[in-house]
Parts: sequence; C-alpha cells; structure tokens
Amino acid sequence: MPNWDALVAAASAARELAHAPYSDYLVGAAFELSDGTIVAGCNVENRILGLTVCAERNAIANAIVSGRRDFVALAVVTVSTPPAAPCGMCRETLAEFVDDLPILLANTQGERTEVRFGDLLPHRFVLPKG
Ligand code: THU
Repeated sequence: MPNWDALVAAASAARELAHAPYSDYLVGAAFELSDGTIVAGCNVENRILGLTVCAERNAIANAIVSGRRDFVALAVVTVSTPPAAPCGMCRETLAEFVDDLPILLANTQGERTEVRFGDLLPHRFVLPKG
C-alpha cells in the first residue's frame, strides 16, 4: 500500500512551487520509489506556451536524473473537482518507464480518487523490434 498521505503532502508542497503565471493552474506530482523515497515535480510554464512542462514529466525527469526509475506509485494534486488525471503526453512519458502503477488523483479540497495507469493508457504503442 503506497504511503498516500506522504505522497499527497509532497505533491502539494511541489504544487506550491509551480511556475504557472499563464494558466494560474498549479500542479504537483510525487512518485514513491521502491524503497519509499519520494520524488516530486511541479509544472513549469513558459511564455512560449508549447514549451510548458507538466508536473508529472518534471517529477519523472527528477527521478531519472537522480538515477532512479523504480516507480511504485504516483500522486497528482490540483485544484480541480473532480481531481484531474495526467494529460496524454504525461501518460505516454510514464509508459516509457512503467507497466502499471497505482495513481492517486487528489485535490486541494481533500478529494481523492485512486486509478491505475493501465486504465489510463490501455493498448499502448509498442515499438517493433528492428
Ligand atoms: N498540467 C500538468 O502539470 N499536468 C497535467 O497532466 C495536465 C496539465 C499543467 C500544464 C500547464 O502548466 C497547466 O497545467 C494548464 O494546462
């Protein structure tokens, strides 16, 4: 069972650090790794709007640059009701590293919904072996 309370706390703290002056929509994400380590990320927007990077992808990059890719759970915190799920680009990025994963969608009002990554991205693209 993931430490959801710790993950939501870490994602909420990361969310407060988001750089989102264009949308005013702050997102925090936090992964639990296999030894309980938590790695977080926030969204970082850019005046060239297409250069914006989501919280989930920044959390993945944070883990990768720490030499870690043993993801076991993810929490995402937004202000949305119902709590928002990762976007398609983040789902594809996650698919690079995980087969399945429990994901907690949470919001700042305390709502929580648990989903599975396999349900968010079924029938994933698999690169044929050359
Ligand atoms: N955003 C995320 O950080 N994660 C998602 O899964 C969806 C969207 C960010 C990107 C942008 O900074 C803001 O939310 C509005 O789209």
